[in-house]
Formats: sequence, C-alpha cells, structure tokens
Amino acid sequence: MAVLIHFGADHSQERWRNTLQRLDPSLEFRLWPEEGDPADIDAIVVWKHVHGELLGYPNLKLICNLGAGVEHILGDDNLPEGIPFTRVVDPRMTGAMAEYVLLHILRYHRHFDETQANQRERKWEYLPPDNAATTTIGFLGLGELGRHAANLVGALGFDVAGWSRSAKTLDGMTTYHGEDGLVPFLNSTKMLVCLLPLTSETEGIINARTLSALPEGAYLINAARGGHVVDADLIAALDYGTLEGATLDVFHEEPLPDDHPFWTHPRITVTPHNAADSFPDDVAPQIIDNIRRALEGRELLNPVDVGRGY
Ligand code: NAP
Ligand code: GLV
Repeated sequence: MAVLIHFGADHSQERWRNTLQRLDPSLEFRLWPEEGDPADIDAIVVWKHVHGELLGYPNLKLICNLGAGVEHILGDDNLPEGIPFTRVVDPRMTGAMAEYVLLHILRYHRHFDETQANQRERKWEYLPPDNAATTTIGFLGLGELGRHAANLVGALGFDVAGWSRSAKTLDGMTTYHGEDGLVPFLNSTKMLVCLLPLTSETEGIINARTLSALPEGAYLINAARGGHVVDADLIAALDYGTLEGATLDVFHEEPLPDDHPFWTHPRITVTPHNAADSFPDDVAPQIIDNIRRALEGRELLNPVDVGRGY
C-alpha cells in the first residue's frame, strides 16, 4: 500500500512528501519516477503530471489534484478509466483569491496607477473614484472562488453580478447563466473578473465578441487560466476598443515568455500566477483525508465531475 507523488517537472515533490508523511506516518509515500512496484500504488497525488504516466497502476483507487483547476489532468488522453479524482477547495486559497481580486478592483476604482504616475511627476491632481454602488463588478464563474470574492466585493458596497453555467439565486447579486445570459451580463459589467474553470466550453471566452460587449472604459481581471483569453483580441480591445485596463495572473504559456507583448503593454498588469496557491500545511490534511476515504470506500471530498470538465 503506497501513495505516489507525481509533479512532472515541478520540484516541490519532496516538500509535499515531508508534510504528508508527517501527517500520516502510517502511509508510504513514493516520489515519481521512483515508484517501485506499480501494484503497490493505491493513490497518486498530482500536479502538472507527465501526460500518459497515470496508466499501469492495477490497484489505483484515487487521483488527487493539488490545485483547484483540473484542466491539466483532463487534458491527458491516457487517463485510467473509472478512477475518481479530487481537487483542492481550501479556505486559505479562497481567501487569497478574494484578496487578489479586491486589490485590483480597488486599484482601478481609486485610480491608483494614475495617482502613482502623477506622483512621479510631482503632479497634484484630484481623481474622484466612481460611485461603488453604481459600479458593477461582474464575475465569470460563481464557484468556490468566484462566489466568495463576489460576496466580499458586495460587502464593500459595489454592485455585483455573476455568470455561471446553472441558474442561481444568490443574495446581494444579479445572476445570469448560460449562453443566453452572457451578453446581458457583460453589457452591465464595468470590471470583469474571470474565475471560470478552463473547459472546452470556456476556452477563449474572453475574445473580441465578448470584450466588445463590455461598456466603454471597462476593466478585466483574469485569475483563472490563460486559455480563457484570446491574447490578440485582448490587446486589440485595449489599443482600439473600449477596454481601459487588464490585470492578468495566468497565461497560455507560463512563465510568460520574455518576448510576449503583455509584459510591456502600458495598460496590462502581469502577475506571476500567484493569486492563490496551495500550501502544503493547509492542503495536505484534505489529501490525507481523501486517501483514507478512498482506501475505506467512503465518499470523497471535492470530487471532480469529469463529464462537466470541472
Ligand atoms: P468551481 O468551484 O468549480 O466553480 C466554477 C464556476 O464556473 C461555477 O460557478 C460554474 O458554474 C462556472 N462555470 C463552469 N463552466 C461554465 C460554463 N460553461 N458557463 C458558465 N459558467 C461556467 O471552481 P473554483 O474553485 O471557483 O476555481 C475556478 C478556477 O480558478 C479554477 O478552475 C482555476 O483554473 C482557477 N484558479 C486560479 C488560481 C490562481 O492562482 N490564479 C488559483 C486557484 C484556482 P456552476 O456553478 O453552474 O457549476
Ligand atoms: C492554481 O492555479 C490552481 O488551480 O489551484
């Protein structure tokens, strides 16, 4: 009976092994690619695993993803059939994402970048913030991360809207859903926050058509995945369209290549995929819990719905 930790090229396997081992000394953890006899492996803990490498474990009962987004696993065409997998839902991650979203909403709302630029020129200029109550912050995705951030933004007095796949009634926000709800949602949104999973339905959702549905002077904050954005359309919307600014934490290729135009665009803020991380001390207990549940045939925490893609 053993658990394999498989992070592909990521170098933090050992750090996670130490934390997991401390929490449950009765389990044996092995580090990929030194897995020993594949028949020993009951569970695999993955993050950006090497595609095709989750096959060939005859006693596998569980795959645990060490992050919230699961598109890397689902992008593996050679997944073992019928093995359940789980993702991370963690209060520290949820809180950190809300911090990130609030930081950038308030930065735009209070014209902070312009104020800093003015300071560099010793220029005293009063830039009034808009009225929060009539500034609509629109959330693409009302899941674990989107809903929490939306509630906090609403508590600050902003008008809040959200778009999801299924219909929802949520206190304090106007909700939209499905393809038909997307354009009306965008039409009302001054700051668009993307917290969607990356699936075949959401890939490229931030494109020329959707950006042009935002009102004049809108902003984008994308902390979900780079694949949600059509990069050239975003740059065109900033240069020739109605988009005023964009803050991006995630990219098609990470690290963002040196020659990518996002690095130097005057109205784009780049952050290095650090909005909300999985930290071993916070997340390892739910991984151990799920391994125990799988070994005992109990219901899993935070299961992924493979058919839905998230
Ligand atoms: P989640 O709980 O699964 O929520 C996903 C939300 O997106 C749900 O509201 C869902 O609608 C909606 N959605 C999915 N497909 C849709 C579609 N086709 N049309 C409309 N709405 C759709 O996910 P989460 O935990 O909030 O995480 C969201 C994403 O954040 C992750 O997948 C990951 O990519 C990203 N993330 C980024 C960082 C970072 O550091 N930058 C950290 C963590 C996570 P329903 O409610 O109707 O199901
Ligand atoms: C980070 O991006 C995650 O999906 O957890």
